[in-house]
Amino acid sequence: MKILVTDPIVSQGITIFREAGFEVLEIPFKNTDAVLAALPGVDAWIIRSGSKVTAEHLKLAGRLKVIGRAGVGIDNVDLTAATLQGVVVMNTPNGNTISAAEHTLAMMLALVRNIPEADATLKNGGWDRKRFTGNELRGKTLGVVGLGRIGQKVIKRAQAFEMNILGYDPYVEPERIGLKRVESADLDTLLAKSDIVTLHVPKNKATENLINAQRLAQMKPGARLINCARGGLVDEAALADSLKNGHLAGAAIDVFVNEPPDDSTLRTAPHAILTPHLGASTVEAGESVAVQVCQQVKDYLVEKKLANAVNVPIADLSILKQIESGLNLVKRMGYMLHHLMPGAIRECVLTYGGEASHTQPLLLSALQGLLKERHDGELNLINVRSIAEQQGIDVVTVNDPRMADFTHAISLHLKGADGTACELVGYTDQEGIGRITRLDGFKIDSKPDGVLLLIENDDIPGVVGRVGTLLGTAQVNISGIALSRDKTRKSALSIVRCDQEVREDVLENLRSEAAIRRVIQII
Ligand code: NAI
Repeated sequence: MKILVTDPIVSQGITIFREAGFEVLEIPFKNTDAVLAALPGVDAWIIRSGSKVTAEHLKLAGRLKVIGRAGVGIDNVDLTAATLQGVVVMNTPNGNTISAAEHTLAMMLALVRNIPEADATLKNGGWDRKRFTGNELRGKTLGVVGLGRIGQKVIKRAQAFEMNILGYDPYVEPERIGLKRVESADLDTLLAKSDIVTLHVPKNKATENLINAQRLAQMKPGARLINCARGGLVDEAALADSLKNGHLAGAAIDVFVNEPPDDSTLRTAPHAILTPHLGASTVEAGESVAVQVCQQVKDYLVEKKLANAVNVPIADLSILKQIESGLNLVKRMGYMLHHLMPGAIRECVLTYGGEASHTQPLLLSALQGLLKERHDGELNLINVRSIAEQQGIDVVTVNDPRMADFTHAISLHLKGADGTACELVGYTDQEGIGRITRLDGFKIDSKPDGVLLLIENDDIPGVVGRVGTLLGTAQVNISGIALSRDKTRKSALSIVRCDQEVREDVLENLRSEAAIRRVIQII
């Protein structure tokens, strides 16, 4: 086997290949001619962020089986071209977890002991010991928002400092993922009770501006905030105000809406420690991702073992192509259930009446939809099952021939940690159009695509008209409406398909109608 390496990779990584008896060609990416000349003969290509793998490169690389990216981002690889050519692309999403967790601890200690300000004062000729009296971490409450890879490592380290931990993650139950001595709390309680709040969540629609002016005001006077996750989770101007007016005693921020951040807000706020996105920037993280990717690539070449692959090789795509419309439908069903079951999920059961070999890919696609907003990073048919299991979800498939009457009927049934459950049933018709036929006990018939409003209300006259009026007044055009009722629950459900996203204030107006029980928007 021949391995091409076009970015700097530590020698321990290269040794993994040499010990396996492989030949390693280390050619810097900027030596274009040499890279192009080497490509036709190589089986694997190892890169960091400095190499750009294009469709032209891939065309030349007829023997190439795998590309290994040391690091997370894969925007420097033409993923579609690689997939179509059957080339597996792998990355190393876990390599910087420890570094990011340690940076959070560094920020926390620097905050409570005023280290940057004390350092700057001393260097300017000062010697002010009283002003910089700090706080101990011992016995303080740390509120951890997001209990994923990094949040868990931060907790372990903070517990060594004898801190009490409050954890908020709507999708994870701490005990189920083996977290000990962590008290679950909702976000309001966590903010009100924590001395330090640290964020470790992905950035998505639900987490954008998660910590806004109102949430900052909910924090304890004198509390401190840390964001080493993603820019945009915190409203920077509101945070600057809260530091200026003394409500918060300090904030440590590693990530910004614009990087570098603009001059006005946080740069001039008092008691703000700012670092230029250094969470993952350690020698060890750089080394660990390099060694990890070389090990993964070797394992793939020798044993066909796939770890952290971000695409699916073409061989599998032929079957995926056949059931593409079912995959799309069930992914959408998973996404709808994410909204219908907003808490932690214990179990996901997919029941299918069609060909048994299709059941697994359908389940994986459903999980992709379900976890889209619940996980930071690549989610694909290869990695999604283990990510679901990490979140404490038991996944089950059932082949039920009774459902085969409806050619491609699929049921997705979730059980939540809070004892709730919800089922969605759908099918794809002969033309491959997906439809939802049952939702949370209601028989209904609706396409699941576009902007959907799920509205449940008391089964009394006039509600549909009221919904139409409120949406019409807000200039929202309705493209379809499906109605259902459940006499025992004295309840009616409608799926309203809209031409555009409905504004939050309009949703609030709908929710404030006495007869309306719940309104969920799914985009
Ligand atoms: P992860 O995917 O392992 O964990 C994220 C957790 O957030 C999951 O447990 C998920 O259930 C939870 N979550 C999702 N939405 C939530 C919400 N609305 N409220 C509360 N919890 C929610 O991700 P990981 O690896 O722990 O990364 C955490 C963050 O750190 C990511 O934003 C990542 O981009 C960032 N990061 C920053 C680095 C830096 O250089 N500063 C380095 C590495 C990661």
